Amino acid sequence: MVALITGGSSGMGLEFARQLAARGYGLVLVSNQEQALAEAARELSGPVTVRTRCQDLAHERGADELFAWCRAEGILPDVLVNDAGMFFFKELQTEDRTASAPSCPPCSLPARRPGWWTSMP
Ligand SMILES: NC(=O)c1ccc[n+]([C@@H]2O[C@H](COP(=O)([O-])OP(=O)(O)OC[C@H]3O[C@@H](n4cnc5c(N)ncnc54)[C@H](OP(=O)(O)O)[C@@H]3O)[C@@H](O)[C@H]2O)c1
Repeated sequence: MVALITGGSSGMGLEFARQLAARGYGLVLVSNQEQALAEAARELSGPVTVRTRCQDLAHERGADELFAWCRAEGILPDVLVNDAGMFFFKELQTEDRTASAPSCPPCSLPARRPGWWTSMP
């Protein structure tokens, strides 16, 4: 069984990798950080096979290139953890400068009324 984890070199992706390795999954770790990938592979290799692929998935051809590489390498993941990304809040000021609303640029969510994020169900 093989798990492919994008963003697998740090944060939640790396923790997913640890948990899946502990369950016996071979790993394919993908991120745009070559050194962090190498460190993650050093940590997790041994009990399971770990392969790494340095790929910028923000590039418009990034996902296609990863797919092509997997096909060329004969990798057919049983599990995909699609974790690569960035997440941050940025305060935006309204035109009258009296209120602000959070936005989530990577998700292209529009700014809404103040507090909309925390009031989401
Ligand atoms: N932490 C939270 O509270 C939270 C909340 C909601 C959603 N999320 C989402 O959950 C995921 C993991 O969050 P995290 O906190 O664990 O973040 P993280 O530690 O920054 O991990 C994200 C991983 O994705 C990689 N990555 C970023 N951009 C990439 C790109 N263009 N191509 C390939 N790899 C890329 C990062 O590499 P770099 O070192 O280059 O950034 C990093 O290894 C993210 O997608 C995030 O948006 C997180």
